[in-house]
Amino acid sequence: TSNILTDTFGRTHNYLRISLTERCNLRCTYCMPAEGIQLSPKANIMTYEEIFTIAQEFVNRGVTKIRLTGGEPLVRKDAAKIIEQLSSLPVELTLTTNGVIVDRFIDLFKKCGIQSLNISLDSLHSSKNQQITRRSYFEKVYQNILLLVDEGFEVKINCVLMKGFNDDEIIDFINLAKDLPVHIRFIEFMPFDGNRWNMDKLVSLKEILDHVHTHFIKDEVLKLQNAPNDTAKSYQIKGYKGTFAIISSVTNPFCDGCNRIRLTANGKIKNCLFSSKESDLLTPLRDGKPIASVIQSAIRSKLKVRNGMDTLDKFKDTDGHNNRSMIQIGG
Ligand code: GTP
Ligand code: 5AD
Ligand code: SF4
Repeated sequence: TSNILTDTFGRTHNYLRISLTERCNLRCTYCMPAEGIQLSPKANIMTYEEIFTIAQEFVNRGVTKIRLTGGEPLVRKDAAKIIEQLSSLPVELTLTTNGVIVDRFIDLFKKCGIQSLNISLDSLHSSKNQQITRRSYFEKVYQNILLLVDEGFEVKINCVLMKGFNDDEIIDFINLAKDLPVHIRFIEFMPFDGNRWNMDKLVSLKEILDHVHTHFIKDEVLKLQNAPNDTAKSYQIKGYKGTFAIISSVTNPFCDGCNRIRLTANGKIKNCLFSSKESDLLTPLRDGKPIASVIQSAIRSKLKVRNGMDTLDKFKDTDGHNNRSMIQIGG
């Protein structure tokens, strides 16, 4: 029998991203509207048993990597229990977090074999972070990044660039990797419901690289190899301990190598970050029905590039596209 996780373009989905919660202790402008979002009723959020059952099903079908996202995954009350339980599965387990409370989880991460974490940080200035996140935790997050590195974790720093706001910090971010073995990832701003996206705010892969080359000489900027299903194109400045990379979802999509499938906190499969149609897995699970067929049809209906937004002109200067807010997807 053919693998239910292989789509009609031959892409095998062995990387599951599970959102644990729609809640967050920050309020980032690019992730959620100012007025907040309507939270799903608690009864519709997957319980930790349900998360485990679904994860097991995916792992039995070939998933080898699970990333926990949110909202902020660590604010969920039973986050530790979920992490511990998922760590019993034969997968690479990891998280994307805003870093505000990761210090409380260091021992748990070690115990659970977690080796790498992706942390969001969009500016190296406290005041700008406050503007983006509408909260003031910059020092805490920065200290936590240093702590994680010190404790031996691989740390990737996600920085969403916005024109005229933090694009003057590209070199400062890259230089953070001079003595610190961290991986900086500049991310093109993407449209989601309520985030006031438009093309003029986006800093493109090309603009980032042009800027890098005004500061560093050609021979200093080394291009690194990436895995075929990496989101990022990686570089290293000669002699630096860490690296930098660019995630160019808008100007240079990387869908050919897509191996990702997403599960929202309320138990729906999203077959693409940009998909508007979702497949309800939680209801059949609660009704005692098999879920493999739901997974299979979600994968089968996946489109080739960005849920059909295959060219740039299909990104209208508007957010949303009938998609959720990022806080409800988890990236
Ligand atoms: P790794 O597992 O370390 O490769 O991390 P990642 O880049 O997949 O995940 P992370 O949660 O750190 O997300 C970083 C950025 O990449 C965010 O802006 C995500 O929205 C974006 N991203 C993650 N997965 C995908 C994807 O499948 N497609 C697109 N277009 N963007 C993605
Ligand atoms: N565009 C690009 N990246 C985004 N993220 C959140 N919202 C957006 C957006 N609109 C990133 C955050 C986080 C990751 C999961 O997604 O930086 O690290
Ligand atoms: Fe995969 Fe959709 Fe991301 Fe493309 S945009 S890499 S198809 S999730």
